[in-house]
Amino acid sequence: MLDVAWWRRGVVYQIYPRSFQDSDGDGIGDLEGVRRRLDHLVALGVDAVWLSPIFPSPMADFGYDVADYCGVDAIFGSIDDFDRLLDDAHGRGLKVILDFVPNHSSEAHPWFVESRRDRSDPRRDWYIWRDAAPGGGPPNNWISNFGGPAWTFDETTGQYYLHSFLREQPDLNWRNPELRAAMADVLRFWLDRGVDGFRIDVLWLLIKDEELRDNPENPDYAQGDPDIGRLLQTYSSDREEVFDVIRELRATVDDYDDRVLIGEIYLPVDRLVAYYGPDLSGVHLPFNFQLIFADWHARAIERRIAEYEAALPPGGWPNWVLGNHDQKRVATRLGGPQARVAAMLLLTLRGTPTLYYGDEIGLADVPVPHDLAQDPWEKNEPGHGRDPARTPMPWDATTNGGFTAGAPWLPMNDVGALNVAAAARDPRSILALHRALLALRRGSPALSLGAYEGVKAQGDVLAYRRRHGEEELLVALNLGDEGAELALPIAATALLSTHMDREGAEQPGVLKLRPNEGVVLRL
Ligand code: GLC
Ligand code: MG
Repeated sequence: MLDVAWWRRGVVYQIYPRSFQDSDGDGIGDLEGVRRRLDHLVALGVDAVWLSPIFPSPMADFGYDVADYCGVDAIFGSIDDFDRLLDDAHGRGLKVILDFVPNHSSEAHPWFVESRRDRSDPRRDWYIWRDAAPGGGPPNNWISNFGGPAWTFDETTGQYYLHSFLREQPDLNWRNPELRAAMADVLRFWLDRGVDGFRIDVLWLLIKDEELRDNPENPDYAQGDPDIGRLLQTYSSDREEVFDVIRELRATVDDYDDRVLIGEIYLPVDRLVAYYGPDLSGVHLPFNFQLIFADWHARAIERRIAEYEAALPPGGWPNWVLGNHDQKRVATRLGGPQARVAAMLLLTLRGTPTLYYGDEIGLADVPVPHDLAQDPWEKNEPGHGRDPARTPMPWDATTNGGFTAGAPWLPMNDVGALNVAAAARDPRSILALHRALLALRRGSPALSLGAYEGVKAQGDVLAYRRRHGEEELLVALNLGDEGAELALPIAATALLSTHMDREGAEQPGVLKLRPNEGVVLRL
């Protein structure tokens, strides 16, 4: 097709490696398992796979506590398994994106082991150490994202270290040039092996206020919200100096052809778009989580799209996300029929979509009783856990859904009722819908690259046009539970309905949409 970077044209698929496919019977997914399931991704029609962390880790936060940035945890396999996966993926035309976790390491990382040893250790300054506050206690009032103080006192050297997450995840000091150089080497290690890019964990937290000032109270904090919400993250996040760091990361990656940087950033749109960087020197795709937080009403979504489109810097390429391993699944947030319309929305908006494994079959959150909780956040703050959105992929109706020959690390859904094989046999399943949407998108420059233009619609109908050259499509989505109508400018042909039963039908002047129906039409 057109000569455009793959990460603009393409669709990203997130795999949570612990839960995709187990190959060795330990109940935990692994790289060889992912490799064996690549055909599913090819049949689905995605372009790139983002793997959540696979590096050696004590797994206090399931790999987001890295003990060695240049290796593979034995749970997931070996570096040879990784190379084999990368080769096979590339052989099938799939890109591979790794999860880079720069804000913090594991306390087991040799850097931290050295850093905590002695105040004069050369690695001391690679982490953030401070004396107790004048009256005693932690150096400031910052809170960990998983609840409780963000500082832990270390007996050996009599100082506190900062951890924005668990105490097992000490924050690295990105003001230190040696640390920065070491991290550039980490990126090169993987880029040299052939990885196609990185998703960067909590990018907006990387640099903290130089003086580590107290964060202000959050006036909107509500009882029951996570502890972290008690304070505004004014001094612990989104600091101007982060853009120097990002420019350096980007320069490292730009020494290689055709790689991508995606940033995990939870900020309001006006701040989010700053992460494209001055003159687009930042990350290629600052993750846009608008759809995760939007109310499911046409006018609310329309406003979010317009706001985001208007905020993009010149040349900045948009992206959209419906779910990930930290959020309730879309089928649970919205409901089953709504999840189909949401899939059509995600895959027809302008910008690179990211799909979360399992969403393509309509997998919902699986309740995980508190005493079976794995997620450290759930253990600290009951009710906020992320396990329900991380349960293993049900591949078929056999024991444990074909995910493992052992005991799955998290409970699974009713695999007899919902699994990939059954969905693949049903021509109108949500899996079939995803495949059809991805095929349509792949064959349509208007959908993958074209301009976006909102179309005026009433009630709970969301409508927009996508256009590229001569090709012009109209997307009409009924987000409501009642039938709705949309006047069409000219006669149009339905290309795809979320109900998968009106393909090729000519539509007269008024399009009648059933409850929770979306349609893509050719004008
Ligand atoms: C990111 C990850 C999340 C992890 C946290 C700490 O938000 O997506 O899963 O717990 O960072 O690394
Ligand atoms: Mg395994």
